[in-house]
Amino acid sequence: MTWGTRLSARALLPLLGEWHGSPAYAALAGRIRLLIGDGRITAGTRLPSERELAAALSRSRSTVVAAYQSLRDSGHLVSVHGSGSRAVLPRERRREVDFARAAPPPVEGLDELLAGLAPCLTSALDGPAFDLLGNRALREAIADRYVRRGLATTPDEIVVTTGGQHAIALAAQTLVRRADHVLVESPTYPHACEALLRAGARPVVTPVTTAGWDTGQLVALLGQVRPALAYLIPDFHNPTGASMPPDDRVRVAEAARRAGTTLLIDETTADLSIDRPWDDGPFARHAHGADVVTIGSLSKSVWGGLRLGWLRADASVVHRLVQARPAGDLGTPQLEQLLGERVVRALPGLLPRRAAQLRVNRDTLYDLLARHLPGWRVPRVDGGLSLWAGLDRPASSALAQLCQARGIALSAGPRFGIGGSHERFVRLPFTMAADDLDRGVRALAECWAQVGADVPGPGPVVV
Ligand SMILES: Cc1ncc(COP(=O)(O)O)c(C=O)c1O
Repeated sequence: MTWGTRLSARALLPLLGEWHGSPAYAALAGRIRLLIGDGRITAGTRLPSERELAAALSRSRSTVVAAYQSLRDSGHLVSVHGSGSRAVLPRERRREVDFARAAPPPVEGLDELLAGLAPCLTSALDGPAFDLLGNRALREAIADRYVRRGLATTPDEIVVTTGGQHAIALAAQTLVRRADHVLVESPTYPHACEALLRAGARPVVTPVTTAGWDTGQLVALLGQVRPALAYLIPDFHNPTGASMPPDDRVRVAEAARRAGTTLLIDETTADLSIDRPWDDGPFARHAHGADVVTIGSLSKSVWGGLRLGWLRADASVVHRLVQARPAGDLGTPQLEQLLGERVVRALPGLLPRRAAQLRVNRDTLYDLLARHLPGWRVPRVDGGLSLWAGLDRPASSALAQLCQARGIALSAGPRFGIGGSHERFVRLPFTMAADDLDRGVRALAECWAQVGADVPGPGPVVV
């Protein structure tokens, strides 16, 4: 993904990857459209000049001129004489099937909690209009839940945010200084990377596969680089679905403590067990002197429309987070927090319902993939929201491009990495209903059949 104002031709090449097709200008435009659409090229980025890109691609200038014209015509590029061509996000098109978003529907039972709230809504009017820390009753409910899950926590160690992404951005803005090394997993949740890069982080990458982390490498990297921060998703990792075993958590926390690295642990997906046979509680139980800042959210376990998340950190970090917050917002809406308190207290009853819903969807998606795309390697996941499917050739972006033309949104593997890796993977969320999954997988299979035989065949899996 890009961050900054100008993208050089050299930096664009690895993002483009293989983009064969005829006519060449249309294939090139299609690939750049995909990169802008999925956020790998952020809106506002200045693209290389036509001449510079033509030279870097060893193509005629007229190919690039025609590609840029096609992008202008589709609303993905604006060119201003004298200041070059900038990427633009066009208005959202209707999507036939949306495999790009991993946003589950509201959990069963949320409607009842919402209805029960009606008589109490006016009580919100008695409290403060806004506050930076969040509503006391909600912070108590969140802290109580940590305590019940084995981690001593007080309400003063909680800051309520408008979702997990807001929590990540606030943490990045507060804990990262320009040019700090920040350890990130690859693949990872891309909007976290964006927030960290925007804060000036220099990423250091540790690999994750569907089989999990290379903990030895991760621990060694912490010792060698001593990054200021490490952003990790240890439970039902997005996008691989992997969970870090309890013993490895201890090793990672210990290595972070020795390196002086703050661990930014994203537990947005941690409540999404479907049939994982163990629950180790919050990662911070293993802190033992390491600095751990934990992110939580109700978006995946309950409903993304609530926009409720939080940060758990020690009081001094909470103080810094709260001081930095007004630059972005002045607090989380009170009505949502009123509902949030009830939702957090009801989680033990709600989560089995979420698990049941996800189990059906996950199993449906496995069956559909086995039937329609038997060549793909799809390891089982025991929780989370998506499968990280291994393709039999490195053509994830080509597939996403074909899907896009058919109104099917799909996030290509490289969307989850830094610098163009993961072309052999595609993330497939199982958050849609069975009918949509069925339509989506059939369409995927048709597109996959069209993905050129000119793309190299099976080789070593690169992660
Ligand atoms: C790992 C991870 N963290 C954070 C978020 C953002 O969550 P929220 O919707 O609460 O902002 C997501 C959303 O996909 C996610 O997958």
